[in-house]
Amino acid sequence: MRKKIVAGNWKMNLTLDEGVKLASEVREFVKNNPLEQLPGKPGVVMFTPAIHLDRVTQTLHNTKGVQTGAQNCHTQEKGAFTGEVSVGMIRSAGAGYVLVGHSERRAQFDETNEVLAEKVNIILKHNLTPMYCCGEVLEERDEGKLFDVIKEQIEKGLFWLSKEEFTKIVIAYEPVWAIGTGVTASPEQAQEMHAYIRQLVEEKYDAETAENTTILYGGSCNAKNAKELFANKDVDGGLIGGASLKAEDFCTIIQSY
Ligand code: PGA
Repeated sequence: MRKKIVAGNWKMNLTLDEGVKLASEVREFVKNNPLEQLPGKPGVVMFTPAIHLDRVTQTLHNTKGVQTGAQNCHTQEKGAFTGEVSVGMIRSAGAGYVLVGHSERRAQFDETNEVLAEKVNIILKHNLTPMYCCGEVLEERDEGKLFDVIKEQIEKGLFWLSKEEFTKIVIAYEPVWAIGTGVTASPEQAQEMHAYIRQLVEEKYDAETAENTTILYGGSCNAKNAKELFANKDVDGGLIGGASLKAEDFCTIIQSY
């Protein structure tokens, strides 16, 4: 069954106290508005800075349907990689998800599709869920290369997986030109790309696998436009940056599903 998800990507924002406060507010909201009673029955994931994971996970303890995730991980199990965080550490802090290939990591930390494939591999080995991000920059869209770019990111990052492994993946389509810019993709643009990604999955695996794949939209999704974006048949929720930092906005977005 395809899962609906509303995820918050805090990026490098919020002190520990601020993060715990935000998580407590979301916890209270979910207690009063059980996720399974919302029409889309969405799951919620909060991608916190790694150093906040343990406390935020504890804060959310027993909040049904809400999980935490890390924004990045290393490709190796452990060792002399000063400053890095392993999937084992992330798992031991109680997280359920790891973001892979966010465009900020691709662009600012030179993460290639090949490195991202290694990250997906180690995350699955630890039984956590990789949320694999893909997206084109504006120039690529303007030049009509957007479908080729997404295809390459997904083929190299994910299509080496067996069908069984692939069913454990969540995809987030995040057009880079929409991230943090206030310019969101139109519902038609989002639907078009989500349908294309689903078609790629069908061609690689089969129709059932494609139907069951969760594909989120990210990029200036907020409390005002979430409903319209989520109403599209191939959009299974959102990966929210800026608007996930305020409980009121994030909870409105959760309620949009
Ligand atoms: P934004 O970020 O919602 O602030 O555009 C989305 C993301 O980068 O995941």
